[in-house]
Amino acid sequence: MAGPSGHVFPLGSRLNEAGRLEIGGCDVIELAREFGTPAYVYAEDDIRTRARAYMDAFRARVDRFEVIYASKAFPCTAAERILVEEGLACDVASGGELHIALAAGFDPVRIYMHGNNKTPAELDYALQAGVGQIVVDSFDEIDRLATLPGARTQRVMLRVTPGIKPETHQNIQTGQEDSKFGFGLADVGAAIERVGAAGLELVGLHAHIGSQIFELDVFERLAEVLSGIGDYPLLNLGGGLGISYTADQRPPSVEDYVETLLAGVPTGVVPLIEPGRSLVGNAGVTLYTVGTVKRIPGVRTYVSVDGGMSDNLRPMLYDAVYEAEIADRFGGQAKCRIAGMHCESGDILVRQAKLDDPRAGDVLVIPATGAYGHAMANNYNAVPRPPVVFCRDGDARVVVRRETYDDLLARDA
Ligand code: LLP
Repeated sequence: MAGPSGHVFPLGSRLNEAGRLEIGGCDVIELAREFGTPAYVYAEDDIRTRARAYMDAFRARVDRFEVIYASKAFPCTAAERILVEEGLACDVASGGELHIALAAGFDPVRIYMHGNNKTPAELDYALQAGVGQIVVDSFDEIDRLATLPGARTQRVMLRVTPGIKPETHQNIQTGQEDSKFGFGLADVGAAIERVGAAGLELVGLHAHIGSQIFELDVFERLAEVLSGIGDYPLLNLGGGLGISYTADQRPPSVEDYVETLLAGVPTGVVPLIEPGRSLVGNAGVTLYTVGTVKRIPGVRTYVSVDGGMSDNLRPMLYDAVYEAEIADRFGGQAKCRIAGMHCESGDILVRQAKLDDPRAGDVLVIPATGAYGHAMANNYNAVPRPPVVFCRDGDARVVVRRETYDDLLARDA
């Protein structure tokens, strides 16, 4: 029987003697029984190991650097605490992400605040909290920030849109000129002047060209374009390294990624990167329970599960392709479509899955949901959001509890 592919499932995943999937030493069928489904299940050590890989890759090459966790990928205090312990810094893209990062214990000085339209209230929160770097994104924002109390001494970076288009889904390309983000190359000079006139301290440049990227040369080119703009102490090259969602996908290693981007960074400049997905994406899986199996002769088989577009929007937003397996019968050959429980035909989690004779009651696992799953979960059809369970050495703990029906009423005024 085929086991869980090592580069898609969390590190250390295996089939136990009973042929059932284990994540972090925990039998997922027992987890489903104990915590219910749907549930996001993470191997805690996977996150730690990937964080170390980033830190080690930099430590081996440069003295000063910053690995900044892009917390939008999985804004969860338990995960962020692990990354604090491993020495990472944090990127936040809203007041809410800032709130979580502070609760997790990130040193505010090492928080980087992003956003193409930060509100005055969010900027104020950042200033009050002592956020180290605000990454300014527009002329309006520079003006807005300059008027706030305490902004005078604020360190800022400038978000640049460098005109680089990596190969990835167009909804997650952000480096092209036609973008809502940042300053195009034609405007960078004026933006630098405006920052100076506002009395803010410009410490460096930033760019994030996109996400789920497999080609490396774009990162070297990015470093060269940014360093060509001028000499600044910090160069933040954003995130974007891709991960394996399916067994046939092989992204570059963290070592090769870091090696390539450092090639474009001039000596004396401190390199910063902001990985999100590649730190947490493969660490998590989603467990579902199969409820109905509908066989339409000559057409296809629909396997419906107890979650869907409320816990994973990625197939709908980016045509993202996932694998699925029955937790105790890996490696089936029956072609199925995995559907969610929402009132939408587009609520399809996996268009082409191969399962072993799926039936009601089976626990179904979709791997590589650790990034932008919990992060983009929603309450469509008033479905309570799933819990987050961390597993390690055979022990499981709930780090985010399941929402209840009463939670759905909790904000009624
Ligand atoms: N830095 C900035 C400024 C970003 O905007 C992002 C992602 C990152 C870093 C981290 O990128 P990563 O290493 O995770 O690729 N919801 C989409 C992804 C949107 C990413 C937005 N920005 C998805 O599920 O694919």
